[in-house]
Amino acid sequence: ALKDLAKFPIGMEVSAANQERSIFNYPSQLPTIEKHFNSLVAGVIMKMSFLHPNENEFFYTDADKLNAYAIDHNMLLHGHTLIWHWDSQIPPWMKKYTGDWSAMLNNHVTQICTHFAGKVSSWDVVNEALDESDPSGFRQSIFYQRIGKKYIENAFVAARKADPNAVLYYNEYNIESSDTKLNLLLTMLDDFKSRNIPVDGVGFQMHLDLFNPSIDQIKRSFKAVADRGYKIRISELDMPVNYNSTLVLSDAVAQQQKERYKSIVKAYLDSVPESQRTGITFWGLVDGESWYNFIGLPAKEWPLLFNDDYSPKPAFYGVAEALAGK
Ligand code: G3I
Repeated sequence: ALKDLAKFPIGMEVSAANQERSIFNYPSQLPTIEKHFNSLVAGVIMKMSFLHPNENEFFYTDADKLNAYAIDHNMLLHGHTLIWHWDSQIPPWMKKYTGDWSAMLNNHVTQICTHFAGKVSSWDVVNEALDESDPSGFRQSIFYQRIGKKYIENAFVAARKADPNAVLYYNEYNIESSDTKLNLLLTMLDDFKSRNIPVDGVGFQMHLDLFNPSIDQIKRSFKAVADRGYKIRISELDMPVNYNSTLVLSDAVAQQQKERYKSIVKAYLDSVPESQRTGITFWGLVDGESWYNFIGLPAKEWPLLFNDDYSPKPAFYGVAEALAGK
């Protein structure tokens, strides 16, 4: 089992809303999840619009159910995510909010972290706040527009206060592939460190492909963050491979995917000191359920470790070999 090969949590993203793909409505996936993983993250139901549907209403039923499942199976539950700009995941009331935005977001973070204190071991406190194509370096999200960049540090301070034991992450994509974006991250982290803003770690999402970025670049990026003492999670690993829109995954491409997965896990092991390795989470279990297959691509994608019948793909063995030091 994957989780037995690693000294850090091996996670996966699950669907847990009251919908078809939910782990609760779709039990055939449970044996594979329980065998290989010891950490879970909700793909959708712990985002802003789900947990905080109205200004004075928080909705915890689905997340609590997922949490109970995780506890029953000795799994960690990682919280994703307290603040994220994604339009459909910002509750409509919030978009229209005209009061004190700092106080409102502070309450959002405080209420949720308080509810999950002692249950959720770690949080993506802020997700995807940087934008290397904007002159400010920050994404022009509604939070940035209303509050300025201070919303980021405010969220970490509020989260730490509400749950002093939770490990707090800043989560981002492309920091392993864009030096410009990595530098924005490092500048922000250094500033936070100098002012004791409580960031414990960085989540590298790593929605990768077969070729870019290079393994060297990935290692350099991990190392730059690790050298500053942060914990590092690979937080959303997956890897689409169907460049030619073929109908079946060929053996040759499946092997390429295996080698790429293997070298990425090795890069993590090589460049992050053991005490700072806090996990690898795969963004889904079987290919057919990957988010890439719900965004209107011309052909099916195969980004994950398992076939739709739960049989392990070569990619699975690539990860297992790297974890086993082979
Ligand atoms: O389940 C409903 C279905 O009942 C409904 O008919 C359908 C109509 O749109 O929507 C379905 O819900 C979708 C849900 O995924 C299903 O899991 C939502 O529309 C869709 O927006 C949602 O997408 C999620 C997306 O974040 C937005 O929240 C993806 O599953 C999830 O994989 C993706 O994850 C993000 C990370 O949070 C941040 N990093 C990038 C990553 C991939 O985009």
